[in-house]
Amino acid sequence: MHIITLATQKGGAGKTTLATNLAVAAVEAGEKVVMFDLDPQRSLVAWAESREAEAPHVEPFPADRIAKLPEMVQALNGQFTTVILDTAGADNTATHRAMEAATLCLVPLRPTRLDANAVAPTVQAIIRGGTPFAFVLNQCPPQPNNPRAFEMKNGLEAIGKLALPMIIQRADYQDAYASGQGVTEFSKDSKAAEEMRSLWAWIAKRSKGDKK
Ligand SMILES: Nc1ncnc2c1ncn2[C@@H]1O[C@H](COP(=O)(O)OP(=O)(O)OP(=O)(O)O)[C@@H](O)[C@H]1O
Ligand SMILES: [Mg+2]
Repeated sequence: MHIITLATQKGGAGKTTLATNLAVAAVEAGEKVVMFDLDPQRSLVAWAESREAEAPHVEPFPADRIAKLPEMVQALNGQFTTVILDTAGADNTATHRAMEAATLCLVPLRPTRLDANAVAPTVQAIIRGGTPFAFVLNQCPPQPNNPRAFEMKNGLEAIGKLALPMIIQRADYQDAYASGQGVTEFSKDSKAAEEMRSLWAWIAKRSKGDKK
């Protein structure tokens, strides 16, 4: 079972956007997907409520059971093939349990110096917990070969910590969320849809899916 945790303390980096779109792409690739919203803002639950399709299954995670999160997630093995955990933009116990439970942590990162500087505590927490992780460069400028984004891409690729492809800033991501869809449903032949299918394929290959 793949257990994918989206985490970064930096607000607005794209945790929920990537979670919703990857979940739909995973469903389309044949995965049985369950998602938990660990954020009191409940942006993931709100998306699910505006959605017509049954899959993925989305639930808020009960706040009084956070300590048991890794065991509860493991108990879903057999019923689901992929679990996606969307965390709050905060350093809290729920985020730490979700990082520990994961087979792969994804850290969305906008390609700016401010964002890069802010990501260190998240990465340190993931490393302490021992879970494999990768950055997702998100909201990259649409201009081809933007020097800032490419500098970061090259740096992260060199250390083997970049999920591919880079994700571009596109209105389709915002419009798909607003209509309770993933971009692969909202605009299935778009560049955004292509990005999300490729990113899911990258993740499915890297996430070992054998966490005990
Ligand atoms: N690739 C993208 N293209 C265009 N807009 C994007 C993209 N990724 C995210 N956004 C927009 O950026 C904003 C923040 O994204 P999102 O809510 O997914 O971040 P988050 O990390 O979940 O934030 P929070 O920390 O508040 O939970 C939203 O308005 C979202 O629509
Ligand atoms: Mg969010």
